[in-house]
Amino acid sequence: MSKDTFTIIDNRTGKQYEIPVEHSTIKARDLRQIKVNPDEFGTMTYDPGYDNTASCKSTITYIDGDKGILRYRGYPIEQLAEKSSFLEVAYLLIFGELPTKQQLADWEYQIMHHTFLHENMTQLFHAYRYDAHPMGMMISALAFMSTLHKEASLVEDADVRLKQIYRILGKLPTVAAFCYRHRIGRPFNYPNADMGYAENFLYMLDYMHQSRYSVNPVLAKALDVLFILHADHEQNASTSVMRSIGSAYADPYSAMAGAAAALFGPRHGGANEAVIKMLTEIGDAKRVPSYVERVKKGEFRLMGFGHRVYKNYDPRAKIIKKIAYDVFGVTGMNPLIDVAVELERHALEDDYFVSRKLYPNVDFYSGIIYQAMRFPPDMFTVLFTLGRAPGWLAQWVEMITDPEQKIARPRQIYLGADERDYVPLEQRG
Ligand code: SDX
Repeated sequence: MSKDTFTIIDNRTGKQYEIPVEHSTIKARDLRQIKVNPDEFGTMTYDPGYDNTASCKSTITYIDGDKGILRYRGYPIEQLAEKSSFLEVAYLLIFGELPTKQQLADWEYQIMHHTFLHENMTQLFHAYRYDAHPMGMMISALAFMSTLHKEASLVEDADVRLKQIYRILGKLPTVAAFCYRHRIGRPFNYPNADMGYAENFLYMLDYMHQSRYSVNPVLAKALDVLFILHADHEQNASTSVMRSIGSAYADPYSAMAGAAAALFGPRHGGANEAVIKMLTEIGDAKRVPSYVERVKKGEFRLMGFGHRVYKNYDPRAKIIKKIAYDVFGVTGMNPLIDVAVELERHALEDDYFVSRKLYPNVDFYSGIIYQAMRFPPDMFTVLFTLGRAPGWLAQWVEMITDPEQKIARPRQIYLGADERDYVPLEQRG
């Protein structure tokens, strides 16, 4: 009769160990008993980048990288993108179920009535140079919010957590809009609670006291769907940082500042900005073959391609590609789309990419839409931050309330110097 265990034979000692298997994983701690000498530390696993290590148990997001599947709380991303709204998806991620009509109305009311920033914080933006990167402003603004809400450190109190969630989801679009308005030297537009989430954001970005102003509903809808597509993605680098900082019981603003810092990296959420730079550098579909050859020589990576988990087409990229043409119907075609489509076609016919299972990811087409909507490239990762905020918060709540979780503190393989005595300065060569 089969048993849910592994039998491990240590060929160094001939000893045999039976290790329990659950969810196709073993507890790394169960390997510690495998030793040659009793006074040894015991066996660990070594997994740089945590490529094959589960850090937690989660019920939030499911990804099947080979099949290109993405589900939030069991709902396929394609259905949520078509039928839901960003705030409804945020509720789903955080609370685990789709809200009732009343729950959704209350949730939307709370978030849209936590959109104003403390005036001290408004002063913060004037401290930045005009050319400060908006992600640098976003990261420091999140840390600044930590100084305003001292009760946020009571992370084990569910009511306190919920209040910070309202504030973060409500205020981040205002922070993002103020970053942008500071950059272009325009006065801040204060939030309007009578508008929708994405509509209010676009209003704060664009309003210049025109007599008859309204946000284009196609653009507001496109942005709302883009936020849905970015809302969560299981244990990606920035979410892992959110969980790691949160595991020390730091407040959620500080944890999110760290998560945003991780997202800023060009290998992660900063890739959408890098994609536009890449497509602009290529400039013309006719130059794609020569550029791809340089990638294959290892000169640089194809930004917006490849993924740690997806070894098939990122389902988000498929949906984003469709949204692009809805947006172009309002903004006019972004000529870079032709370069991107040719680059994708060329790469997916080339064994270098096919053999490495490198497909377009969420960042490949998103930047083209943002650019068509007149966002400057260095605002793209700020938009990713707005989308990912509910995912970070949902993962943070799940970690805080998980009885198996404790402070994140990985081990290492020490290969440094053995003990040695201090050498006085005058005796050093
Ligand atoms: C996001 O984790 C998430 O879920 C992230 C994200 C989310 O929603 O949170 O999906 C968002 O971050 C999307 C990824 C955005 N980043 C990029 O587009 C940057 C370009 N992509 C790569 O840097 C890379 O694909 C990663 C970082 C995304 C994944 O890297 P891995 O899994 O560590 O893969 P790897 O570096 O081990 O590469 C395997 C092989 C290598 O070749 P060999 O050494 O085997 O010859 O594939 C090559 C790599 O050189 N490779 C690429 C490539 N990505 C990997 N070659 C050319 N272009 C690329 N983009």
